[in-house]
Amino acid sequence: MGKRIFIFDTTLRDGEQSPGCSMNHQEKIEVARQLERLKVDVIEAGFAIASPGDFQSVKAIAETVKDCTVASLSRALTKDIDRSWEALRNAVSPRIHTFIATSDIHMKYKLRMSPEEVLEQTKTMVAYAKKYCSDVEFSAEDATRSQPEFLYKVFDTAIKAGATVINVPDTVGYTTPDEFYALIKGIRENVPDIDKVTISVHCHNDLGMAVANTLAAARAGATQLECTINGIGERAGNAALEEIVMALKTREALFDLDCRVDTTQIYRSSKLISNITGVSVQPNKAIVGANAFAHESGIHQHGVLAEKSTYEIMTPESIGLTQNHMVLGKHSGRHAFEDRLKTLGYQLTKEELNKAFEQFKVLADKKKVVQDADIEALLAQKAVQIPETYRLDRFVINTGNTITATASVRLVKQNGEEMVIEEVSTGDGPVDAAFKAIDKIVGVNFVLEDYKLRSVTEGQDAQGEAYVKIRRDTRMYTGTGVSTDVFESSVLAYINAINKLIYQEKLEQAV
Ligand code: KIV
Ligand code: ZN
Repeated sequence: MGKRIFIFDTTLRDGEQSPGCSMNHQEKIEVARQLERLKVDVIEAGFAIASPGDFQSVKAIAETVKDCTVASLSRALTKDIDRSWEALRNAVSPRIHTFIATSDIHMKYKLRMSPEEVLEQTKTMVAYAKKYCSDVEFSAEDATRSQPEFLYKVFDTAIKAGATVINVPDTVGYTTPDEFYALIKGIRENVPDIDKVTISVHCHNDLGMAVANTLAAARAGATQLECTINGIGERAGNAALEEIVMALKTREALFDLDCRVDTTQIYRSSKLISNITGVSVQPNKAIVGANAFAHESGIHQHGVLAEKSTYEIMTPESIGLTQNHMVLGKHSGRHAFEDRLKTLGYQLTKEELNKAFEQFKVLADKKKVVQDADIEALLAQKAVQIPETYRLDRFVINTGNTITATASVRLVKQNGEEMVIEEVSTGDGPVDAAFKAIDKIVGVNFVLEDYKLRSVTEGQDAQGEAYVKIRRDTRMYTGTGVSTDVFESSVLAYINAINKLIYQEKLEQAV
C-alpha cells in the first residue's frame, strides 16, 4: 500500500461560490452526506462569515458529519475566525482554515499591506485560531505567483504559530506541472519543520492544468489534495476530485499513493452536484461524462468485446456505474426493486423505500421498461428533502399552433392547513402559460433565468427531466421534475424551485 493521501473537498465552499452553482441549506447538507459516503477526508463546508445562511449551513454540516473533518474558511481576521469557530465547535473533527495573500501583486493592490505586515498577520491569526482549535490550516493565497523566499518565511511563521496544514494554492491557475513540482520540492527543502505538518495543494483550472498540477505536487510530496466534484469552482473551476482520485487508483504503481475514497460513490456524487446546481457535465468530461465509457467506433467496440482492457483503463463499475442487464417493469416486485437500489448504491430507510416503490409502480405503468437512469432520476428528486409549501394537484393545458396557449393549474398550499388554489393564464406557449398560472397562485416576485428539458433515457416512452432556475434579487434557486409527460415535469420543476425559495427565505428570516 502506498503513502496515504488526504482528499480535501471544497465543493461546498470554492465550488459553491462560483457563478450558477449556489445551493440552499438542505442541498448543502445532502451534498455533505454524500461526501461522507464518498469518504473524503475533509469537507470544507463553507465560509461561515459570508452570510447568515452560510453560517447556518457550516454549523448544520459540522453537527451532521461524523466521519470527516469539517472545515470553515476564514480570512486572517479575528471576526472571521470567531465566526468559523462558532459554526464548527460541535464538529467531531473541526478545522479552522485561514488564509492571506502572499504575492506582491495581491499584497500591494488587494491587501495594501507590506510583506512584514502579512508575516505579522499570519503569526497572530494562526495563533488566534489555534486557541480555539488544534487543527488549523493556513493558506498562502496566490502562492504560485509569490516570491518563493517570502513564501518559505510565511509558512515557517504559520508552522511556528501552530498551523497543522500549510496549503499552497494556485489561486489563478497559473502554474505548470514541472514548475509546481519544483515549488513543492523547494518548500520541503527550505521550510524548517515542514515534515511535522501536512503539505496541501489547491489548484484552479484556468489553463486546464489543475489536475496535472495537483498530481505533480503529490509526486513532490504534497499529501493533502484540494478539489471539487465535477471540478466546479471559480472561473474555470478547481481540480476535479474524480479525476485526481481515479488517476491515483488507475496509475497506482506509478504514484504509489493511497486515499480512502470509495470510488463507487463517484458517479452518484457527480450526479447529485449536477442535479442540484443544474450545471451539467460535458459529455466528454473525464470519468463522469456520458461518453467516458462509451465506445463508438467499430474497431474500439470490437476490441472491448474481445477484451475490455483493450480500450478501457478502468471499469465503469469502479466509479459506481452499473452495467444493468436486468429489466424492471410493472410486474417486478418489491424485492427486485430493492435489490436494484442496493446495486445502484442507495441505502434507503423503510419509509423512503415505500415511497420510491410506489413511484416506481406508477412509472412502470406508463413505461414498459424501467432503466437504472429512470430510477436514479426518480430518487434524485427526493435526494434533497425540503418542505413542500406548494404541491401540484392537477393541471389542464390547451394549446396548438393556431390558438393562444391556456393553462389552468391547481396547487395545494400547505401552511398549517391545506388550501386548494386554482388559477388560469394564457402564455407564449404551454409551459409559459402554466408557469404564469403558478405565478398568480404563488404571488412572489422572481425571474425565470433558465429552463431546460432532457430525456432521461432513449425511446418514445422516455421520461423527461425538466430543470428550472429562478432568481430573486441575487439569489438563484434551482428546481427539477421528472415525468413521462414533459409538461408535468416542467410544472413540477417550477414548483420545486419555488418551494426551495420559500424554504430558504423562511430559514434566513429565522436567523
Ligand atoms: O484559490 C484560493 O486561493 C483559495 C484559498 C482561499 C484557499 O480558494
Ligand atoms: Zn480556490
